[in-house]
Amino acid sequence: MADTILVTGGAGYIGSHTVLELLEAGYKLVALDNYSHSYPKSLEVVKELTNQAFPVYEGDVRDKDLLQQIFSQHPVTGVIHFAGFKAVAESTQQPLAYYDNNLVGLLCLLEVMEEQGCKNLIFSSSATVYGQPTHLPLGEDAPLSVTNPYGRTKLIGENILRDLYAQDPTWNLVLLRYFNPIGAHPSGRLGEDPQGVPNNLVPYMTQVASGLRDHIRVFGNDYDTPDGTGVRDYIHVVDLSRGHVAAMKKWAPGSGLSIYNLGTGQGYSVLEMIQALSRAVGRDLPYKIYPRRPGDIASCYADPRKAQTELGWSAQLDLEAMCRHAWSWQQQHPQGFQD
Ligand code: NAD
Ligand code: UFG
Repeated sequence: MADTILVTGGAGYIGSHTVLELLEAGYKLVALDNYSHSYPKSLEVVKELTNQAFPVYEGDVRDKDLLQQIFSQHPVTGVIHFAGFKAVAESTQQPLAYYDNNLVGLLCLLEVMEEQGCKNLIFSSSATVYGQPTHLPLGEDAPLSVTNPYGRTKLIGENILRDLYAQDPTWNLVLLRYFNPIGAHPSGRLGEDPQGVPNNLVPYMTQVASGLRDHIRVFGNDYDTPDGTGVRDYIHVVDLSRGHVAAMKKWAPGSGLSIYNLGTGQGYSVLEMIQALSRAVGRDLPYKIYPRRPGDIASCYADPRKAQTELGWSAQLDLEAMCRHAWSWQQQHPQGFQD
């Protein structure tokens, strides 16, 4: 039987795109999701787009019996762990739910992996672990600091993995720090389906473009950036997903613990993003300047060279493609996967 990869949170935004890329690269996989923040439809679409079948388990990554069942039914040799909560503001309102889901989830998974002798993991970390950058671009050795419970779950998750590796260096652990994933599959059939009012800029903008919301809210135009609005390293979700396929080379025996930024290295401001999406949509999108959003930083962008050198991966898709695909997804699915 061919090796199988377990993808937790496989029905989510990044998970579903990564499942598709894994299948296209010829891997066998099994997906697990409790659909707390996704729909079964996303993986049905992946099956249609790839014309490939794979098992999907509905359940919680904190359910160790279920994890054991999956390991007993499939020859899982590595795990890509996406399952978790990710909304910064919500994490300040529900810290216990975030610690429980993101950290108990990781611990349950690691315990079962250890029992089963499966020691290859890719962990979804975040550029949020860099906190307020002291210099830019951010290399992987930049100082770490976090300011909210979500970020803390990611930093603690990274530290759990560092401690595990120190105790047992036969683990191969890849910590991927994502910058700002946006966009959608080029077919426009798979994309980000935020529930309620989107927290993130691009889903909010596409909802304005489709008439679901009145105008884009620009959170602050008095930052120390070229046009005063926040600068981020936006990366196409397809590039990000391919970064996971590339990172699996660090599951080779003896690879140990590795950390990579997944970003483009290029920062764009909120106003530049509005212009880019306006071009994709074909008309100027309305926006208004609002006060700064608490907790936001001025600028954040990656030094992506380590992933290029060691994984042979770099982002290929430009801002025009990110916006075109995000808009195509929004047009085809104004209400997300419920359409
Ligand atoms: P998402 O919410 O779309 O996907 C997460 C998936 O995990 C969802 O399908 C959800 O239903 C599932 N899930 C949550 N808790 C679960 C549990 N206990 N058991 C089983 N399934 C569970 O989010 P995403 O954008 O795809 O993010 C994936 C990962 O990447 C998360 O860990 C997130 O923190 C991290 N990340 C995301 C971003 C981003 O901007 N999207 C940035 C940095 C890091
Ligand atoms: N912004 C607006 N209006 C909005 C939403 C955002 O002006 O409606 C601005 C923000 O102020 C910021 C930029 O657009 O300058 C990007 O904001 P996002 O909310 O899209 O993304 P963040 O950089 O704040 O955070 C994202 C994820 C975090 C993750 C971080 C780094 O939401 O979970 O990227 O990876 F930690």
